[in-house]
Amino acid sequence: MSDVFDPEVAADAARGIGSAGPLGFRVGARTFTYHVEAGSVRVDAGLVAEGTIVAISEAAWSDLIGQDRTFVNLYLAGELEFEQGDFSDLLDWDPVLKFLHAGIPIFDPGRADLGEVDLSRTFTLDDTDAEMRAFLITAGFLHVRGVFGRDEIATLNCEVDRLAAEARPGDDRSWWATDSDGQERLCRLVYVGLYSLMVGELEGDPRLARLGRLLDPELRMAPDRMEGTAALIKVPGPTTGLSNIPWHQDCGMGGHSTCCPAAGVGIQLTGSSAETGNLLVVPGSHGQSLNYDWEKRWPSAPVVAVDTEPGDVTVHIQDLMHASPKPTGTGGRRTLYVTFFPPTLWDHIGPGEAFNDLVRNRTAETSALGSARKPH
Ligand SMILES: [Fe+2]
Repeated sequence: MSDVFDPEVAADAARGIGSAGPLGFRVGARTFTYHVEAGSVRVDAGLVAEGTIVAISEAAWSDLIGQDRTFVNLYLAGELEFEQGDFSDLLDWDPVLKFLHAGIPIFDPGRADLGEVDLSRTFTLDDTDAEMRAFLITAGFLHVRGVFGRDEIATLNCEVDRLAAEARPGDDRSWWATDSDGQERLCRLVYVGLYSLMVGELEGDPRLARLGRLLDPELRMAPDRMEGTAALIKVPGPTTGLSNIPWHQDCGMGGHSTCCPAAGVGIQLTGSSAETGNLLVVPGSHGQSLNYDWEKRWPSAPVVAVDTEPGDVTVHIQDLMHASPKPTGTGGRRTLYVTFFPPTLWDHIGPGEAFNDLVRNRTAETSALGSARKPH
């Protein structure tokens, strides 16, 4: 039996575990089990009868502890074999393993000092980079008003109309959801800059570069991978599929080691509100992992609804906890998302590749995750 973790780190990790039992792995010929014991996490050789047991390949284990792939990713790819237990047994352990293996802290609303920050504050391009950067680094998001003019937004909306009319289910350039009448409804266009000259030119706009690189001047756009520039279109009413996205971090499908911190820049083509489907964020949650039941664990954690006007731009750090909930009214919010990634992305993700390849056009598989945890 052996302790392999710093005792203080292991004790901190143990606090993230609820009532979860031991979690064992069979990785090639090796077997080992994580336990909580006496307020600490330890890992022992071998498996135990009462524990969850997951068999995965050496390569998948390496990807998991290297933060290249997540449990959700491996599950959807069919690379987790449950000898005992099921996917729900991994939920409590997930942030604990991330902390033990990569030092990613488990969410604590007190970690970010939001006391001096007015979370309803908005900015304009007349504000300085230093002011906007300071807010973004602390809160994990930013709302900049009036970045694009009405004529520019009207033109972009016409272009999205044109591309939406051409999209078809299964074309691998779009996401679809099923509405309450059983009709397939377009909810996202991806790689838009590759199919639209206008959007391709927009990707070179200095306003986007300025906001996308506030976090780090090394970040850059990836028009030909990670789904490039994407147009999100919120479908009204109840839907199945991926029109309404529950709480998630954008590295939830994997790629934390190569994609974080990235900055998602959202050009608001319609403006947004609860009625049309807005962006919700948990300020200060970036750079941490969150338990699937974080809302229960931290009922007083702040949540901000980022309501916008056409032409506004939002920025969110991609591992900020955020959601795109069901519109309470007519729906129809349109946002054009351009993402700025660290240079390490290009070492690992080739043209046409994206972690979301595992969910695009795979509604049935993603639904199989059940209510315990939704994909991202
Ligand atoms: Fe997201």
